[in-house]
Amino acid sequence: MRTITALALILASGLATSATADTIKVGVIGPLSGPFSIFGQNFQWGIEAYQREAGTTVGDDTVEFVYRDLPGVDPAKARALAQELVVKDKVQYLAGAYFTPNAMAMTPILASAKTPLIVLNAATSSITEASPLVVRTSFTMWQNSVPAATAAKADGFEKVITIVSDYGPGIDAETAFGKTFTEAGGEIVESLRLPLSTNDFNPIMQRVKDSGADGIFVFLPGGPPTLGFMKSYLGNGLNDQGIKIISTGDVMTEPDLPAVGDVGLGVKTTYHYSTAHDSPENKAFLAAIDAVGGDLGETTMAAVAAYDGAKVIYDMIAATGGKRDPEAAVKAIEGEAWESPRGPVSIDAKTHHITQNVYLREMQKVDGKYQNTEIGVFEAQPDWGLVSK
Ligand code: PHB
Repeated sequence: MRTITALALILASGLATSATADTIKVGVIGPLSGPFSIFGQNFQWGIEAYQREAGTTVGDDTVEFVYRDLPGVDPAKARALAQELVVKDKVQYLAGAYFTPNAMAMTPILASAKTPLIVLNAATSSITEASPLVVRTSFTMWQNSVPAATAAKADGFEKVITIVSDYGPGIDAETAFGKTFTEAGGEIVESLRLPLSTNDFNPIMQRVKDSGADGIFVFLPGGPPTLGFMKSYLGNGLNDQGIKIISTGDVMTEPDLPAVGDVGLGVKTTYHYSTAHDSPENKAFLAAIDAVGGDLGETTMAAVAAYDGAKVIYDMIAATGGKRDPEAAVKAIEGEAWESPRGPVSIDAKTHHITQNVYLREMQKVDGKYQNTEIGVFEAQPDWGLVSK
């Protein structure tokens, strides 16, 4: 409470609200070290790729991104970093948040800090309901889990065990998949919620066998746990025993594909972005990532969310003439539509989620390289992202 009061005082003094500042700072919080660091690097590559194409100025103002490292789930540190960025560094926008609890912890300060937050990954629907100053350019779990259930039913899954991480996005994924799959006539035989810290999945595979399921739906946050899960599923031969799998794309991110290897060929996932997406916008995006020193084999959905997030921030800055006016900034991008490297997108005026197509993908080897090839598309539906279902 004390820090919030201090923050309010500083803002009230006018120090942080100068309209004449010629450098507008954006504070980006994400995992730049530790087991999830590839996703923080992806934030940085996406932003740098956007600045390479759009330049570093909007009108007369220079836009500068400053980064803070938040390696894991740590809400207290997330809030402290956000406060420090606003008070000390005078950032006019906040962006980032790989994990939901970190995004949630930042939302209470946004109104007094007069700072919008552009969420670049965290995918629990309710984040944008926590503050009208939140805009999300990544995805929601509903968006990717509803199509996963439809695809599973079409592929002959009848009895599914759902396996999710026991926190916000996992609960959303379990709910969205379960509702859609049972409405389509399927059965959920068991729902497992695993602690975020789980890294040995072999005992889970025995439970899957015991459950009588003919299929698995899984969501875990992209990173070491997802690779561990897939290796355990494939290594225990569950697919050979007729237990199929479908997951959101988080469980098969591009950097993991070489380590999954040939045994993963044919695994299907649903997601809003694959680096294999065939469009001129995606080709240009990947060329820009390459030009700023990004690794094309390690490029993921987090880079695209950051690239589009930077665009949204530039548009907010242009609409407000560089002044600190968070309500006007957010209002200006409501309903905005453009062609992203992932396909056509827009910002839903009511929920501030990004509306986008979701693709059914299959792991394939093309020209000696593994990729998630898009083999089907679920056309964008804005209400996928709504939490109040
Ligand atoms: C989240 O915490 O919201 C989250 C993290 C990683 C993912 C998806 C969602 O891959």
